[in-house]
Order: sequence, then structure tokens, then C-alpha cells
Amino acid sequence: MDEHSNNPQHRQMADESMVRNLAHQAAAIWPQESAIFCGYGLVGGLDILDVGCGTGEITARLAELYPKAALVGVDLIERHLELARDRCAGLGGRVAFRKADAFALPFADAAFDLVVCRHMLQAVPRPHEAMAEMVRVLRPGGRLHLLVEDYGMIHMHPTRLDVDRFWVDGPPAFGAASGTDLHIGRTAYSHLKALPVFAISQHYVVVDTLRVPRETFASIWEAWRDGYADAIGEHTRFTSGEAREFFEDMIACIRNPDGYAVWQVPVLSARKSGCPVAPDFLGSREAGCTWAGYAIRCGIPPRDAVHREPAAGFPTALEGVMRRSRLLETLGMIGAAIALTGAAHAGTRTYVSLAGRDDAIAKLGRPGIAVRVDATNANDTAFLMNELVRELAQQVHTRRVAPGEVGDYDLEVTLEVPRVDGQAATVPFWAVLKSAQGERLWRIEGRSDVLGTPLDASVFAGIGRNVVSALIHDGWVQPRYDPDNPPPQPPRIRSE
Ligand SMILES: C[S@@+](CC[C@H](N)C(=O)[O-])C[C@H]1O[C@@H](n2cnc3c(N)ncnc32)[C@H](O)[C@@H]1O
Repeated sequence: MDEHSNNPQHRQMADESMVRNLAHQAAAIWPQESAIFCGYGLVGGLDILDVGCGTGEITARLAELYPKAALVGVDLIERHLELARDRCAGLGGRVAFRKADAFALPFADAAFDLVVCRHMLQAVPRPHEAMAEMVRVLRPGGRLHLLVEDYGMIHMHPTRLDVDRFWVDGPPAFGAASGTDLHIGRTAYSHLKALPVFAISQHYVVVDTLRVPRETFASIWEAWRDGYADAIGEHTRFTSGEAREFFEDMIACIRNPDGYAVWQVPVLSARKSGCPVAPDFLGSREAGCTWAGYAIRCGIPPRDAVHREPAAGFPTALEGVMRRSRLLETLGMIGAAIALTGAAHAGTRTYVSLAGRDDAIAKLGRPGIAVRVDATNANDTAFLMNELVRELAQQVHTRRVAPGEVGDYDLEVTLEVPRVDGQAATVPFWAVLKSAQGERLWRIEGRSDVLGTPLDASVFAGIGRNVVSALIHDGWVQPRYDPDNPPPQPPRIRSE
């Protein structure tokens, strides 16, 4: 494989016109795109990777947006990397650039909290492979941010020529000739669905003559004209002269104070799931709400649990150690089965069946969640209630709801009568999230297995923590990530 096979547009990418294009595109797009980044709620000492970073236009802006982050930009074009290094020279050692291929990133698995890739996937062959590679280097729970071009999302009026025809006929022919997908803006979602990610969203940055200065917009088109007209002449039914004419016509429309032009730029985002293998979706439907269930059971240990060795005879099949005690990872690993050995009461394990997630569900924003517990006695009810309220306050962004106050949502947790079998007991439970109108939005089931009855506080702590973690995992509420108050050391995990 030659140096350029994974960057088939290397000639256009390395051209002087691309350097100015990237500057104009950043000026046009960043004001809207930065708001999308802010919506991720990422703070603190993040590790960020910018794949296909080009001249570092956006790496530099990300460094400003995340002042405590360490950033690495990779690209195949050394000249771009030099420009990027010059641009970020004042930022010190926390921003670095290196030559690397997006298809073989020289980083360990799970090394980054945020992986960004902008304006690149439309220009590489096998974009799904590059996306998989980006997911590989993300930490469980980490965020993938892809700005993907789609040459069917451009419209202008008035124009002299049939510009729509140019955009309908040109890109598929160009893509076929260069082995790339110039409609990646609409296909990326399906690629993401095949990867171990959750919380997929698709935003649009709207580059139009109402939101972006006409001059900036026109400069992007001029750079495309200068960089791509010849290649369009080679690869499509249009000659390079015709391609130039189309661009001139569009530039005139963009500059025409009575004209309207729009280029919609999709921005996809997703978070890496903690599941080592793709979850097996059961895809069931419940009470009119769409939800899917993973055939995976999981559990995370109760916070502040007593550290004791497991009781003899309690099974301990453990594999894999979570490397870092950060919330993102704590959340990410929920997708795997987690053994509680050595971190909880001598013989208490709590499991939940994760409900999985569906992209159609509306997220709660910053809700007030009223908690109701239905247990077999007042003591158990109070224990679990306390635990749930504490976990909600510590783990997610919620509004405080006073006791007795009606919440925006109700979280109802029900404990069944323990089933006692000699020394061991099982406490089945389920949790339901309801809207203020009583509509059931979400439900999970679980159990806490207890060796050495009677039941103690660790049973309730385990249930409370797992219910809240499942709410987060399924995307209903946003995790609170506070680097100054990190979550407890994550437990060891194993797949069941
Ligand atoms: C249009 S530029 C975008 C630059 C930058 N992301 C930005 O938004 O300003 C695309 C960049 O991707 C790089 N690229 C293309 N294929 C690549 C690959 N296989 N590995 C790494 N970089 C690649 C190109 O060299 C080019 O610098």
C-alpha cells in the first residue's frame, strides 16, 4: 500500500487552496460547532485526539475550549503538521502533532476521552474502518465527534446553471473514481450503528448566507474551485472548464445580496459503550415506549462498601482490571458483567439487566426526579431511598426535589420479598421511570444476591447505585463528571 492509498485526495489536500479553505471553513463552522462541543459537558484534564487534523485550525480552537486538556493531532501531510505546530507553539507541551494514518492510529486502546475527526471521512476509502479505529482508541464512555461532508446537502438560488444537476451527477462519479463516499453525511449513521457506541446524535451546522458572512462562504467555494476543478474534470462527466463555470455561478449566488445559498454540514456524535462485544439487542417494546434490552447483566459495587474477602464458596471468575478511576470509565464498563468480589459485603452482588437504549427516546435534560421506594418494611425503604437520592445527587445532573414535591419524573423502585435459601438470599427488584403524566418511559429489572443473611446496608447501596448507573447508561440523564471529586475506584470486571 503506497503512502497515498489511505488519502486518495492527497494532491488536493496538500494544495495551497486547502490551507486557505480550512481557515475559511473553520471561520464559518466553528461558531455553531463549538456549541455542540459545549453540549457534551466535558471538563478537566481530558485526552483529546484530532484525526486528520490538517493545519490544526480546530486543534487550536479545541485547546482553547478545553484549557486543561492534552491534545494530539495526526495527519499524513507533513507540511500541514508543520503549520499546525507553528499555530499551537504558544500552547506548550499539552498540544502535539504527529504523522499518522487514521487507519492505524499509533495509540493504545482506550487512550482518549474525546476523538474528533472533521472534513476527512468523505475523502478516505473504507470510512467505516477509520471510524472503528477511532472508537478503538476511545475510553468507554468517551465521546466521538465526526464532522462529515455530504455533497447532496448543498442548495442555491438563483443560479444561471443547473447547479442541482452538478451536485447530483458529480459526487457519485468522483467518489467511485477515488473509492470514497461523498455522501458520508448520510451514511455515517449506519456505520456508527455497527460499532460499539451509544448515544448517537446527528446535528447540523448550517453554513448559509444568513448565518455566515457571504465573503467567508464564497471564499470556501473559491478554494474548492481552485483545488478541485481539475480533479472533477478527470473523474466526472464535467470538464474542468465546466466545473469552474459551475463554481463561478455558485459563488455569484453566494455573493448576490438577494440570493440564498446553504451547505448543511452533518455533525455526528456518539459515546463508546463499555461492552467488549456488541450487545445482543432483544428489541422488545413495552407500554408504547421503544426500548431494547441487552442480554447482558451487570452490577457495580456499592459506594463506601465494607472491604472484606468473599465468603468461601462464592464464585469469583474475574478478568480484566479497569485502569483508571474516572467516571467515564466507571460508566462505560456498565455494559459488562461486573463482579463485586472484595469490594462489598462478604456476599452481596447486585445485577441489573440493562435496558439498552434507543435513539428515539427524548433525554431528560436537567430533570427533577422524585424517588419513590416500595420495599417490604420501613427500614429497607428508608435505606434504599437514601441511597438513591445520594447516588442521583453525586452521579448525574439533576435538580433537587424536596421530599413530597412532585418531580418532573418519578423513579419508582420496588423490592420484592427476599427469597431465602438456607444462608443465601436473593432480593429481586425493578425500577421504573415515569413522566409526570404517569407514562412509563423506562424499566429495568435486577436482583441482589446475598450470602450470609440477614440483609444489610450493602444490599441497598448496591441496588441504588446500579439503578442510577443504568439510568445513565441508557442515556436518560447526563453523568456528572467532576475531576475534583472523582467516583470511587472502579471494580474489576468480567464478562458473564
Ligand atoms: C479537509 S482536511 C480537514 C483538516 C481538519 N480536520 C480541519 O477540520 O481543519 C482533511 C485532512 O485529513 C487528512 N487525511 C486524509 N486521509 C487521512 C488518513 N488516512 N490519515 C490521516 N489523515 C488523513 C488530510 O491530509 C487532510 O489534512
